[in-house]
Amino acid sequence: MTAPFKLNTNPDIDRITERRRLRRNRRTDWSRRLVRETTLTIDDLIWPIFLIDGDNRREAVDSMPGVERLTIDQAVRDAERAASLGIPVISLFPYTDPTLRDADGSEALNSGNLVCQAARAIKSAVPDIGIMIDVALDPYTSHGHDGLLDGETIVNDATVAVLVRQALVQAEAGADIIGPSDMMDGRVGAIREALDAGAFTDVQIMAYTAKYASAFYGPFRDAVGSNTTLVGDKRTYQMNPANTEEALREAERDIAEGADMIMVKPGMPYLDIVWRLKECFGMPTFAYQVSGEYAMISAAAQNGWIDGDRAMMESLMAFKRAGADGILTYFAPKVAERLNTAG
Ligand code: PBG
Repeated sequence: MTAPFKLNTNPDIDRITERRRLRRNRRTDWSRRLVRETTLTIDDLIWPIFLIDGDNRREAVDSMPGVERLTIDQAVRDAERAASLGIPVISLFPYTDPTLRDADGSEALNSGNLVCQAARAIKSAVPDIGIMIDVALDPYTSHGHDGLLDGETIVNDATVAVLVRQALVQAEAGADIIGPSDMMDGRVGAIREALDAGAFTDVQIMAYTAKYASAFYGPFRDAVGSNTTLVGDKRTYQMNPANTEEALREAERDIAEGADMIMVKPGMPYLDIVWRLKECFGMPTFAYQVSGEYAMISAAAQNGWIDGDRAMMESLMAFKRAGADGILTYFAPKVAERLNTAG
């Protein structure tokens, strides 16, 4: 990574500075390309997609301009688009019909639920794209939490037992990557063990390792309908935005429990965490540019306050510079199109 940087205390510093003009390398386009340190490619992108029940429908998510909830037939079309653009992975998130939500999130265990049906349809139509699915109960619970409630407490171990079953149902439907986003203790190890015992040894786990209790998830909760259901907040299981060392401990555990890849979420306000995790563990490390980040860039662009395309590219480059191997981003198809035409 970086070479150690020593302050120059040489008394001839002025004369030396004269010889080291940093702007020389920036003068021409070819030279800027020659000395660039970081590259963003289509291979770095994971595209999160929202699903709804029904046929042939695309429904706008108001708080995320340009993002839609898709019925399965339309999701298959977007998966085809993703594959033809060269995007390696799509990630599926269901808007569960409110009548199917209950206190235990039991719809999560239904192998015929929306996300499983979508995974099957996409797998058979677009076999070469990677499919990732979130493991957590929030799109399925009547209270909007990621786990089971006992009074006001989210219970850990009983939740993990349900998450394990949810992961198996998803693997059986064709998920290539399981993404535990619930932040319960011990869930990665429990899921890994169950996947291996269930003959899903090759299914990967991308752990939401450092997932913070963030205000930037607002538009996502709008998209999956958990903004109206959520009671209270998620601070007893998602991390305190003030903490770094704790993220290292989370990563240590997830890796020991068998995570293939780790993730930091949200993205841009947490680039220091991406950097620390990558530096400490050298694991495939991902960042989630979450819904609120997407909404901020898109809204400012719509108002003409920033150049949206440039802000999009700059924000994604920043993740790579911070050491991320890839980014989950709602901009994925737009970026891929841009990178394709740029050649
Ligand atoms: C579910 C989940 C959330 C996101 C991804 N998976 C929301 C939450 O934890 O409340 C947020 C993604 C985004 O904001 O784009 N556990």
